Amino acid sequence: MAKRIHDLLGLPVDEVVVNECLTLKQFLWASQLAGVASFLLVTALLGLVAFVGGRRWLRAIKGGAARTDGRTPGKLAPNRFHEAAWIVGDKHEIADDVWIGAFCVIDAAHDRLVLAPGVVVASGAHIYTHSSVARTATCGAAPIEHAPTHVGPHASICANATVLMGCDVQERAVVAAGAVVPEHTVVPRDCVVAGVPARIVRRARPSKLRSGETRSSCGCAIAPDGKAIDMVCGEHEV
Ligand SMILES: CC(C)(COP(=O)(O)OP(=O)(O)OC[C@H]1O[C@@H](n2cnc3c(N)ncnc32)[C@H](O)[C@@H]1OP(=O)(O)O)[C@@H](O)C(=O)NCCC(=O)NCCS
Repeated sequence: MAKRIHDLLGLPVDEVVVNECLTLKQFLWASQLAGVASFLLVTALLGLVAFVGGRRWLRAIKGGAARTDGRTPGKLAPNRFHEAAWIVGDKHEIADDVWIGAFCVIDAAHDRLVLAPGVVVASGAHIYTHSSVARTATCGAAPIEHAPTHVGPHASICANATVLMGCDVQERAVVAAGAVVPEHTVVPRDCVVAGVPARIVRRARPSKLRSGETRSSCGCAIAPDGKAIDMVCGEHEV
């Protein structure tokens, strides 16, 4: 080793140089050791950072904080409607052909909820049978209020509408997108309600069929091309 270093440096070999080269040899060994130690340290630090960051990332993907109601964090309770709809509780009577879209909250945990045949609950709509406002405002002294909610046959609860506890949305009524139906409201059959709070914007009225028009089984006028002529059906005043 000493000889080779000599050759490299082009120096004569003598006792002193050999000793110096031995020192150099030791220095090289020490450098190698320090290099390996630094490499291991940096690798360990990078591994630690990746481990901690990766766990956070996984937690974020899974949905963060733990959820209640016996569900696995990040997973919604199974239901026979859209997988991202949340049907809470089992006090419900939901007809087989009811359609419930994504991101709906259907509260059947506190009181009876009926969704009659042909009902459509569009994405993001919420239907409640309870209110915790009184309990919250009384610092827990009052109980959670609840009342049965009913949605009649072929009624539509449009996208992002909210039907609060105790409402009776009657047959073929339409709750427009984004409307809020206040607690204990009766939405008459064949009416369209819209806004916050929801108000009747259209109601059924007598209508004569024009040439080529027919009627659906529930009384709506249908154009020759099969489209509904009006959102409200029937031939009666409400
Ligand atoms: C309610 C709805 C069906 C329209 O019904 P329509 O009988 O054709 O009503 P019109 O468009 O003639 O509107 C009637 C009145 O209600 C108002 N209105 C209608 N929809 C409204 C809404 N979502 N919010 C507030 N006001 C609304 C209109 O401005 C109009 O008011 P005006 O008479 O003062 O001008 C429609 O507006 C709606 O909300 N569709 C949502 C469909 C949906 O959720 N799709 C998602 C997939 S299913």
